[in-house]
Amino acid sequence: MKRVAVYPGTFDPVTNGHLDLCERGRRHFDRVILSVLRHDQKQPMFTIPERVELLREATSQWDNVAVDSFDGLLVDYARDAGATIILRGIRAVTDLEYEMQMAMMNRRLADTLETVFLVPSEAYSYVSSRLVREVASLGGSVDGLVPEVVAAALAEKFKDRKPS
Ligand code: PNS
Repeated sequence: MKRVAVYPGTFDPVTNGHLDLCERGRRHFDRVILSVLRHDQKQPMFTIPERVELLREATSQWDNVAVDSFDGLLVDYARDAGATIILRGIRAVTDLEYEMQMAMMNRRLADTLETVFLVPSEAYSYVSSRLVREVASLGGSVDGLVPEVVAAALAEKFKDRKPS
């Protein structure tokens, strides 16, 4: 039986931390599906098609990684996608409470799905999409923290803004 893992998230935008986790995941599972939540309450910087496209470009070298988007309950999406694993990252202990709550809720909703936490490289332990957006919007460099396609997309978004 093939082990399919769904790695869900907002990915606004994808960072090298997400990619590090995806690469670790793809070594252990037959297939990893990175899936972007479509209807989120947060105000996104990148649209869903933009986020999906950036993810596709950033993961195109990995043949067992797919990119998708979803709506509704993650457990329903994962079941329909044929996944038995939800993949999430824990960067630091501060992630744990939120991640545990989601994992427990998802288990309550679908007991056969297992949440698997992986730890990204310590080089990315402080990297978040939120900080990347903030730094880029204020004219700071995010080189090395995001894939080149994302750095270019951020530069394009903020090309008319002067560094502070
Ligand atoms: O990157 P994020 O914002 O931490 O990802 C959060 C995400 C998308 C994994 C989470 O919000 C989610 O799974 N939403 C889908 C709705 C759902 O199933 N909610 C109930 C279980 S927690």
